[in-house]
Amino acid sequence: MWSLHGKVAVVSGAAQGLGRATALAVAEAGADVVLIDRNEEGAQATAQRIEAFGRKTLVSNCNVSDPQAIEDLFRTIDGQFASIDFLGNIAGDGCLARPEDLSIDDLHRVLQNLVVGRFAMCQQAGRRMLKQGHGSIMNIGSLASSTALGRGHIAYSMAMGAVIQMTRELSTEWAYRGVRVNCVTPAQVVNPSLQARMADDPLLEGRFLKGIPANRLGQPDDIRGIALLLAADASAWITGAIIPLDGGNMAMNAGGTPGHQLERVQSFSPKS
Ligand SMILES: NC(=O)c1ccc[n+]([C@@H]2O[C@H](COP(=O)([O-])OP(=O)(O)OC[C@H]3O[C@@H](n4cnc5c(N)ncnc54)[C@H](O)[C@@H]3O)[C@@H](O)[C@H]2O)c1
Repeated sequence: MWSLHGKVAVVSGAAQGLGRATALAVAEAGADVVLIDRNEEGAQATAQRIEAFGRKTLVSNCNVSDPQAIEDLFRTIDGQFASIDFLGNIAGDGCLARPEDLSIDDLHRVLQNLVVGRFAMCQQAGRRMLKQGHGSIMNIGSLASSTALGRGHIAYSMAMGAVIQMTRELSTEWAYRGVRVNCVTPAQVVNPSLQARMADDPLLEGRFLKGIPANRLGQPDDIRGIALLLAADASAWITGAIIPLDGGNMAMNAGGTPGHQLERVQSFSPKS
């Protein structure tokens, strides 16, 4: 039920953070892993740790905003692995700007990355999974998939909202052919850009924690359990689920900051 021996996982964002934690978790459970990250050196470092478990790896610096590069990568995977059993669709980033200032170019860039890129990954993995009659996809959405955050997240929220609808549509179309598609929606998980924003605005961490009943920020390793569950046969009847990974934030519905409160925070800038 839990073993991933003989399975192949494709994980994007594998150089650090949630992607690295996912890649290591599925490898420890037995999977061979394709590691994708534009930070190739970082992905190589993760691959070395995985090879130490005796697993096979392939590292790619594929840009997950580029559907052609994604198609080429999956052809390379076909030549080296017998199947694709799990996709951790994780790499991505947003941009912060007030809605009235957001450039349409920046909006397109974020949508290309988080919506078109995530879809292209699902499509390439999904085609192969449908052919083999089984597979599981874990899309990463966000708290911002379902609630507004304020603080300049307009482009990111629009894109992440699309990611959960994409998940629901794909799960509806593909479930009877053996392919499951779920979406994990994290609240704030510590990563270098979050750390920089918290260093910039000393009040920010406190504002985050007010929305997290568990009273701590997430750590990348918090994704290990749910990644393993979704990759394994243990979750055979779970598809189309939007699964919060958020210390209770969604249940309390308190993640956002309305504009009138920001006006009182002197240090606010679109960066936080
Ligand atoms: N950390 C959080 O608080 C949080 C919360 C909700 C959702 N998310 C989402 O989870 C995902 C991972 O977050 P994280 O905290 O691990 O981020 P991170 O910044 O620590 O890691 C992201 C990794 O993805 C890679 N990457 C980014 N864009 C890429 C591209 N176009 N092509 C190839 N590689 C690319 C980066 O090089 C980096 O190694 C992101 O999509 C993020 O939006 C994060």
